[in-house]
Amino acid sequence: MAERLYAEHPDLYDAIQSEWPYDRDIAFALDRFDEHGVAGDRLLEIGCGTGEHTRRFADLGFSVTAIDKHEGMLAAAQSKCDATFRHGALPHFDLDKTYAAAVMLRGVVNHLPPEDLAPSIELLADVLSPGGLLVFDNSPLPPDGNHPGIDIGETPHGPYARIAQHVPTGDNRLDWRSITFSPEGDVIPDRTPMTPFSDDRLTDTCQHAGFEVEHYDGFGQTGTQRGLGEARTVFVCER
Ligand SMILES: C[S@@+](CC[C@H](N)C(=O)[O-])C[C@H]1O[C@@H](n2cnc3c(N)ncnc32)[C@H](O)[C@@H]1O
Repeated sequence: MAERLYAEHPDLYDAIQSEWPYDRDIAFALDRFDEHGVAGDRLLEIGCGTGEHTRRFADLGFSVTAIDKHEGMLAAAQSKCDATFRHGALPHFDLDKTYAAAVMLRGVVNHLPPEDLAPSIELLADVLSPGGLLVFDNSPLPPDGNHPGIDIGETPHGPYARIAQHVPTGDNRLDWRSITFSPEGDVIPDRTPMTPFSDDRLTDTCQHAGFEVEHYDGFGQTGTQRGLGEARTVFVCER
């Protein structure tokens, strides 16, 4: 089954991601909101996962609407903070409000199939107020695939081990295959389809949707733990 880590094991996802510098991401977004004079506190978060960004934004006083494709991820996020949680997936969901800013952080865009990119970005342009800001990152995925890598870490219940590999599927996408050994003795095979978008394609799509686009290249270069040093491009798009 695809996307089992997201669908069935949000707690394990949370543990695997626990070393991610979420505070750094929030500080970056806040700086961009300040620079662009984001007006209002209504924030839309797409692909909120287990809510580690969500709870930080909520703690800062933002009125967050957080959306995710997987109900288990949403339930984990919901247990952490006071926000409006919606089950849904880009590019198909209805929002009846407008937002001062929207974020989709940590490769959420790379979960989209290529044909869903433009309608997704257009939908986000539609739900932002004039002058509103969209912030998202492009994961540095290997377009030709890579060799399997191993990650061993700790959860609150004991150690886990995960072997993962990106395998090209011949349609400009990757199959992100993994097998995770949980502390409880579960063996969880998983696969998630991913798209390695070029920065140029993302820029063109955002401009076509009416955004003014700035790039921040090499974001995250200074991370040191378990591959967190992979530099990615962050897009800051003003409507
Ligand atoms: C790598 S996780 C990032 C989660 C969270 N932003 C974080 O940083 O921990 C990607 C998330 O995007 C969600 N997702 C994938 N495709 C989506 C889509 N089309 N619309 C909304 N959420 C999506 C997944 O369910 C998953 O929770």
